[in-house]
Amino acid sequence: MTDLIVTLDGPAGTGKSTVSKAVADRLGLPRLDTGAFYRAAGLAALRAGVDLEDHQAVADVVAGVIFDQETGRMYLDGEDVSEVIRGQAATVASSVVSTHPDVRGLLVVYQREWVTRHENRAVVEGRDIGSVVFPDATLKVYLDARPEVRAARRAAQTGLNSAEVLEELSDRDRRDSTRDASPLIVPDGAVVIDTSDMSVVEVVEMIVDLARRAAA
Ligand code: DC
Repeated sequence: MTDLIVTLDGPAGTGKSTVSKAVADRLGLPRLDTGAFYRAAGLAALRAGVDLEDHQAVADVVAGVIFDQETGRMYLDGEDVSEVIRGQAATVASSVVSTHPDVRGLLVVYQREWVTRHENRAVVEGRDIGSVVFPDATLKVYLDARPEVRAARRAAQTGLNSAEVLEELSDRDRRDSTRDASPLIVPDGAVVIDTSDMSVVEVVEMIVDLARRAAA
């Protein structure tokens, strides 16, 4: 079978997870959530009690544990951490540890291996997938949305208040976009979709259509 890699990048609250799951279902492909690797790395660093800003200490922790993901569940040294990595502590920690180049290098190896193991046919979501991890993907999509729309979506998901979420999102956006290592950018050749005024179904239809054309 020919390769079919669809990458979805973009900031938090643009609908990446929901959209990538639906696109993967529609195309009959497995889905890789790379953010879950950074969340699990953040959790590992928290558990080890190291200073999250200490590149070397965090990289040593990350090099000493095993990451895996299967059917949407994230495993850290064989333990299913899918729920705990969604908590506030791991969320903030992931955003800090993902700024360290050595940590990114280690996790990118896992992500590429995972896609190889799945015969180079997958939907992969993250921040640097079309730019760094799979620059030659079949289709690259960058999802965006207005900040207040993203905050309202996040607030609805988490039950937190919208103003607080907006502040946290702005902090994360700044860290993700200004870090030296693989900052969040629109990858070369990516199709940009602003999801602010679109339904999930509309976004999914558009991407499935683009993927089918790109694969033809
Ligand atoms: O998509 P998410 O919210 O689960 O991502 C968690 C953190 O990991 C977020 O701060 C961005 C970072 N991340 C990254 O730097 N590169 C990726 N490919 C995916 C996520």
